[in-house]
Amino acid sequence: MLQASNISHAFDYQLFSNIDFTLKTHESKAILGRSGSGKSTLLHILSTFIKPNSGDVRLFNRDIYSLDESEIEHIRRYDLGIIFQAHYLFKGMTALENLEIATILAETNIDKSIIEKLEISDNIYQKIGDLSGGQQQRVSIARVLSKKPKIIFADEPTGNLDKETAKLVMEVLLDYIKNNSASLVLVTHDETMAKFCDKCYLLENQKLNKYFK
Ligand SMILES: Nc1ncnc2c1ncn2[C@@H]1O[C@H](COP(=O)(O)OP(=O)(O)OP(=O)(O)O)[C@@H](O)[C@H]1O
Ligand SMILES: [Mg+2]
Repeated sequence: MLQASNISHAFDYQLFSNIDFTLKTHESKAILGRSGSGKSTLLHILSTFIKPNSGDVRLFNRDIYSLDESEIEHIRRYDLGIIFQAHYLFKGMTALENLEIATILAETNIDKSIIEKLEISDNIYQKIGDLSGGQQQRVSIARVLSKKPKIIFADEPTGNLDKETAKLVMEVLLDYIKNNSASLVLVTHDETMAKFCDKCYLLENQKLNKYFK
């Protein structure tokens, strides 16, 4: 599904050198690392939002840097689900309206069972601004899953959640990939959440290495 090779990138200083990363159908991989190590940047590279200084990213067997903007837009809209660290929900709208925007764009339907599993059924008619941080986070996860993506990129999806709710979110994400032939890249600093994934990696000193699993 995803093959990234030789990824190097610098901002004011070198952030990555020659990183490789692959992801197969049904696979879940966690990327751990300290704050500032570049986890979000790497996720944005893998999910087409940042072009690295050098290296290749292939999604669904296509070299994304050879595609034009409309082809990339198509992949983003129909095949990728990105749970951003800053979740970009529309604050003045209700949770349901936020989900509807995603399903209209991706031409899918809202999956009630996901809303129930995430325990936000009672919040669906509330305005985003009236929800707690953790409820907003779960709405943003429901919104991404409603698109029925093939790859989920999740940046700290359990950051605002208590342990029990965080575990629930991990179960929902892993159930989703199992039932939809999808796959998951999870960025987190929480080892307990990372261990739910098939494999774990540590981003450190510009490199991505296997980490305890
Ligand atoms: N657009 C940008 N321009 C310049 N520097 C950037 C940009 N985006 C990120 N950086 C820098 O790259 C480094 C890595 O940032 P990134 O957000 O990827 O870290 P992170 O591992 O996700 O951290 P956190 O765990 O705090 O979310 C930071 O030092 C950050 O300041
Ligand atoms: Mg980050």
